[in-house]
Amino acid sequence: MPYTGTINKYAKYLSVAENTPVISIQEGQTPLVPAPHIASACGVDGLKVYFKIEGLNPTGSFKDRGMTMAVSKAVEKGATRIICASTGNTSASAAAFAARARGLGYDMDCYVIIPAGYVALGKLSQAMIYGAKVIQIEGNFDAALNIVKELCDQYPIELVNSLNPYRIEGQKTSAYEICDELGDAPDYLCIPVGNAGNITAYWAGFSDYQGASKKPKMYGFQAAGAAPIVDGAPVEKPETVGTAIRIGNPASWKQAEAARDQSGGLIDKVTDDEMLAAYRMIHQDEGYACEPASAASVAGLIKSAQAGKIEPGSTVVCVLTGNGLKDPKVAMEQSDMASAEKVYQADSFEIAQALGLKAAPVQQ
Ligand code: F0G
Repeated sequence: MPYTGTINKYAKYLSVAENTPVISIQEGQTPLVPAPHIASACGVDGLKVYFKIEGLNPTGSFKDRGMTMAVSKAVEKGATRIICASTGNTSASAAAFAARARGLGYDMDCYVIIPAGYVALGKLSQAMIYGAKVIQIEGNFDAALNIVKELCDQYPIELVNSLNPYRIEGQKTSAYEICDELGDAPDYLCIPVGNAGNITAYWAGFSDYQGASKKPKMYGFQAAGAAPIVDGAPVEKPETVGTAIRIGNPASWKQAEAARDQSGGLIDKVTDDEMLAAYRMIHQDEGYACEPASAASVAGLIKSAQAGKIEPGSTVVCVLTGNGLKDPKVAMEQSDMASAEKVYQADSFEIAQALGLKAAPVQQ
């Protein structure tokens, strides 16, 4: 049977009925890959580390899992407009699913409200080309979310941020895939935390999965400049290179704390330098890609391992939430810019010198 997306695959765990119109772009079924370099960098005996590459969803982030549910349920109830606030990925995903719904013959407009100047170019361009109406505001994600909530109170528009319970429900499917593939739950799940919907969803998923012998400890990581849960108070001016998680007042704050406490896990923060060091390692030592915010999961794992908070012999899954191509600006900044900027003449001698090549000794 060809794969037809997360709703059809995991319908038994989801609030869908026979007559629910399934709006899918074949989200899910993302790779779970070993990360041996990160495992040894942790310095914990017998550690197995995997990446769940959520950036390989159709719009390049985990949001597609929640959006297939949110948009299917919106269409089911006859909604013709959806709206979200976003740091970029939610808007890209909402825009794509609205396009898919239109392609299937439903009326569906998509409106996205984003913080001006803080959405990575890849994400902004996605929302635009998928045909969403994009509104940039002076203000951060938290301000955008407040506007969206007000608009949904006043006008007939369906909110597709993770306040929408179907978003969280849909995002559980990644936990099911991990358990299906490992044959059990991992011991730890390391995940970036922004608006805190995804950590909430994974915990719900691990909690209702049938067939695992255990549940993982949930290890969530905020950026140090945007760490309201860790610091215990909303952050008015959140700042981080991981713009996806530049959020000062997470909507699912309480649920994230519950996931942490019920699982015996933790929510900690990582600095931008730690995030970027992990970001470079993921690319340069494992050959995988993610956006800067996603690297918070790996930076957090390394920090936790060094603090003795990861048991020897355990299995860890780090969620790489978004695709590396979303934010090429940070990728360039973290690279050897000097070598890429100079343009050489098309001359093999000059280029050999630039590459530092030395002729091999002549064979006798
Ligand atoms: N990683 C990426 C790549 C994200 O885009 C987000 C959230 C997160 C992690 C954090 O997930 O909010 O469920 O805790 N992005 C949202 C957006 C806020 O608008 O795209 P969370």
